Amino acid sequence: MDSFSSSKMDVPWRQAVISVEQFSRQDIDEIFSLADRLSVGRTMPLTGKTITNLFYEPSTRTSSSFYAAMTRLGGSVIPINEVNYSSVTKGETLEDTIRTLECYADAIVLRHYDDDATERAASVASVPIINAGNGAGEHPTQALLDLYTIAKEQGNVDGLTVTLMGDLKFGRTVHSLVKLLRMYDVVLRFVSPEELKVPREYLNQNDTEHTKLSEVLSETDVLYITRVQKERLSDNVAIDFSYAITKTDMDQARDDMILMHPLPRVGEIPSELDSDPRAAYFRQVRYGLYVRMALLVAMIGRD
Ligand code: NCD
Repeated sequence: MDSFSSSKMDVPWRQAVISVEQFSRQDIDEIFSLADRLSVGRTMPLTGKTITNLFYEPSTRTSSSFYAAMTRLGGSVIPINEVNYSSVTKGETLEDTIRTLECYADAIVLRHYDDDATERAASVASVPIINAGNGAGEHPTQALLDLYTIAKEQGNVDGLTVTLMGDLKFGRTVHSLVKLLRMYDVVLRFVSPEELKVPREYLNQNDTEHTKLSEVLSETDVLYITRVQKERLSDNVAIDFSYAITKTDMDQARDDMILMHPLPRVGEIPSELDSDPRAAYFRQVRYGLYVRMALLVAMIGRD
């Protein structure tokens, strides 16, 4: 890859997925049609290919869905989910770890606690890097699967009112999803405590911010809830915000609203709501498998 001096927007996403800003609507349509096809097909286009999952932060869904996606497509995975057992503990730099792992793999899926980690990795890598979460920055593959979920469940994206509630400051899935939704004709509502408001750079003139869900619930087509990212708060910050959604809220919500969550949930959605047909969060997990299959095929599927 050429030197990485230009903006991340200029890097083709097939070379490195760093931010959702690299995708056009046409790219997204193509990825989604590929996901549709792969969800019903039984082809193995990645036979003989290998990816490395390099995770410096905990993960259940992202790492295992990339693993499942790769193996369903005929490929294999080097799982480094616990960097504590790798040479990282000996002080190896991210750059050296990437340059080593690229000798074994056709792509590297990277989750890291630093916001600039994906760009640093991509600047030294000769294989595609896929951002699986960079600190409080972005989580582009999650946003793609979130958008795919919305499109599948609601039939379209344009014309919807999407309410994002929870930790909008540190929630990287929210940041990526907001950027992606800006490509569509949607109304955005943000619900959070003062301390966890969405960073100003993600706000548009027509958005509104709230501290109570009741102010926007009845107009909401998609309710996207996130947990407080405790690991990114300094120890002495206490957030006074109880925003668990209740059955009463669901009674007041639209019949065709969908309830989404990137998971893990830690009390924001009681399990008694899981049987509500509008609870889409486990279907969202499944959609994620198809979207990650599509991304892998699009990125490393041809020689
Ligand atoms: C999210 C993440 O890691 O940012 N998890 C995920 O990938 N589904 C959300 C979270 O941890 O709260």
